[in-house]
Amino acid sequence: TDGPLVLGIETSCDETGVGIVRGRTLLADAIASSVDQHARFGGVVPEVASRAHLEAMVPTLERACADAGVRLDEVDALAVTSGPGLAGALMVGVAAAKALALALGKPLYGVNHLAAHVAVDVLEHGPLPTPTAALLVSGGHSSLLLVPDVTAEVTPLGSTIDDAAGEAFDKVARLLGLGFPGGPYVDRAAKEGDGAYVTFPRGLSAPHDMREHRFDFSFSGLKTAVARWVEQRERDGQPVPVADVAASFQEAVVDVLTRKAVLACQENGVDSLLIGGGVAANSRLRALAEERCTAAGIRLRVPRPKLCTDNGAMVAALGAEMVAAGRAPSALDLPADSSMPV
Ligand code: KG4
Ligand code: ZN
Repeated sequence: TDGPLVLGIETSCDETGVGIVRGRTLLADAIASSVDQHARFGGVVPEVASRAHLEAMVPTLERACADAGVRLDEVDALAVTSGPGLAGALMVGVAAAKALALALGKPLYGVNHLAAHVAVDVLEHGPLPTPTAALLVSGGHSSLLLVPDVTAEVTPLGSTIDDAAGEAFDKVARLLGLGFPGGPYVDRAAKEGDGAYVTFPRGLSAPHDMREHRFDFSFSGLKTAVARWVEQRERDGQPVPVADVAASFQEAVVDVLTRKAVLACQENGVDSLLIGGGVAANSRLRALAEERCTAAGIRLRVPRPKLCTDNGAMVAALGAEMVAAGRAPSALDLPADSSMPV
């Protein structure tokens, strides 16, 4: 019941999120998703996402306030994702947040989407250990970060050099004839399959890659390898063992993610790892991360799935941390920055 009352707005991709927190207590997490409108394209269409944000913004704001039982004029500060993300989508959230800040006379905090994915965990597990390492894996990003202080300093260690991990899940699901977004379908199918059925390539894990791209990821070669394997089976007139291919693909992804994340902790003397982003919902990723962290003496933190995927609460949570840390608010000409670095 103490701490600043902060309203956070997230519109970087296809989720219109409005969250309200008081300090580290979650009061509301309203979300409207345009995911169904993108399904038939097999990926998020930026123009469609922007338009959906415009339509959903006011109803989602109203729902968050109703859920939290607060009026807009009661909030102490506003926070908004100002990047990275889809430019047109970000602009809708930033414009809404600026309008509210101006109308209410309250400070505005532009926050980094990736830092917000890290900060959200305070709502579930309390203050972040410092430093902590973070593995953020979603449809739009796949990064390893070192986080000495989430309100001030987040250092990228590496990221994907091609597809994001979630994007790979979505593409492989598509070629296996599963639904969109593909992650949950692959996860479910893999439960009935053998992860060792096919040994798919582990991207950027060869010795020379471990020198040049130690904490980077690559998933596009893996996706192609799965496609080739499936095509070959079809050419041979053999049925495709969907569950086994899903499990083998998933194993290749989570093997590399967890191995590099644990290595990042060890080499930076960090004993705390946080995993966030939509792919953090993956059951095999959670299990293997738990196993490898336990073996390495690393404390693992994974927020519950609803807080792992894009939402407004994560933005509000980081905003509240910034207010509490005495950080300066953003200027009201805050731009949306689609390629914002961490
Ligand atoms: O964080 P998020 O909701 O949105 C962004 O992309 O920023 O992440 C969505 C991604 C999608 O690619 C989806 O397929 C993936 O997260 N995902 C999963 C699972 N649930 C969602 N990937 C693997 N296993 C899952 N259980
Ligand atoms: Zn995200």
